[in-house]
Amino acid sequence: MTAESLILNDFRNYKEQKFEFSDGVNVIFGLNAQGKTNIIEALFLCAIGGSFRTSHTMEMVRRDAEAFSVELSLKGDITDKIKYTCDKKNKKSIKVNGIYLKKIGELMGSCLAVLFSPEDLQFVTEGPSLRRRFLDIGLSQQKPSYFYDLTQYNKILAQKMSLIKKVKYANDGNISRDDQVNFDLWNHQLAAAGSRVIFERLCFLKKLQEEAGAKHAEFSAEKEDLALNYDSFLDENAGYTSAEEIFKPFETKLNGTIKKEIEREACLTGPHRDDIIIKINGMDLKKFGSQGQKRTAVLAVKMGELEIMKKDTGRTPILLLDDVLSELDQTRQRILLSSSKNVQTFITCTDRKKVHISDVECAYFNIKNGSLFAKSVTK
Ligand SMILES: Nc1ncnc2c1ncn2[C@@H]1O[C@H](COP(=O)(O)OP(=O)(O)O)[C@@H](O)[C@H]1O
Ligand SMILES: [Mg+2]
Repeated sequence: MTAESLILNDFRNYKEQKFEFSDGVNVIFGLNAQGKTNIIEALFLCAIGGSFRTSHTMEMVRRDAEAFSVELSLKGDITDKIKYTCDKKNKKSIKVNGIYLKKIGELMGSCLAVLFSPEDLQFVTEGPSLRRRFLDIGLSQQKPSYFYDLTQYNKILAQKMSLIKKVKYANDGNISRDDQVNFDLWNHQLAAAGSRVIFERLCFLKKLQEEAGAKHAEFSAEKEDLALNYDSFLDENAGYTSAEEIFKPFETKLNGTIKKEIEREACLTGPHRDDIIIKINGMDLKKFGSQGQKRTAVLAVKMGELEIMKKDTGRTPILLLDDVLSELDQTRQRILLSSSKNVQTFITCTDRKKVHISDVECAYFNIKNGSLFAKSVTK
């Protein structure tokens, strides 16, 4: 798919601005704090329904304005137009091809995007939430059912958490018969939705291992072997072939740990606690990897995600590279851009000379203080 144009109204530091994009590479450049990432954020918003920088969508309403709207026109795919509006009170509405959506979940898959931002450079070193988020964002776009399962899982988790608190503080840790019935019910539902979430993650990681592994070998000139493993309460060697197989051990585990959960005031098991373990040549990358190896691994993982999305959906996502390309040496830039051939790419940078692009149409957008100052196109 290709983003043809983007219209921002009262979005971040943009009052009113239209961008017409190239089908190839779009380089968005300018000094710091001018509004480059804001464009990436708007594109991402249309794909995921939220920002990668804030969970409060209303923060993106321009100061002194009442509401923002972001309008993305696409071509070459099922979606022609996505219009996202949100006011200062966080009241949102989303229209896809002119039809209002009832739930944000319905947006998933309308526009596919792979984002690579500076925060991702901490993919290996940060705590597990960044890695879970990576799985969740990738899978939600490809499989709307995953998004529903995950949302459902998180809702039940919140309910179980309030029961844990109630038992701990109002009942002195004593579980009444009613509480027990409720714990059993929540655990059953958690195991049902959660086992589907875990199974999808396992399948995704298996594919990612292959795709990212191949990219990593290319980036490291075949010297290094990248391995990605799902880290959870499950026996990782069990080779699960369906969510049903995960359900029983999951429910048993949940039912066996209620007392401990009340004691610790936390839900201790499930996809919300899981992680990805990344190894290079059998060594834990987080503990033993060099900066360069970690960076290469993230790059490989992102490119792997792009590859999986293409293969599994038969559609081509847009690629959003926020401030990361100029951080890479010329060889890595070349590998990255050649593996994203035929993928519409958005690159932000402060110095356009540091970005090396050849053989593809490229549009340059110079951004100054929340507006498009100049645009040029090279073939
Ligand atoms: N809600 C908002 N209203 C007005 N300006 C905003 C808002 N949110 C962010 N900005 C401004 O946007 C600019 C940052 O934009 P960003 O795209 O992150 O910059 P960069 O070009 O460095 O990527 C800053 O000047 C910031 O003050
Ligand atoms: Mg930026």
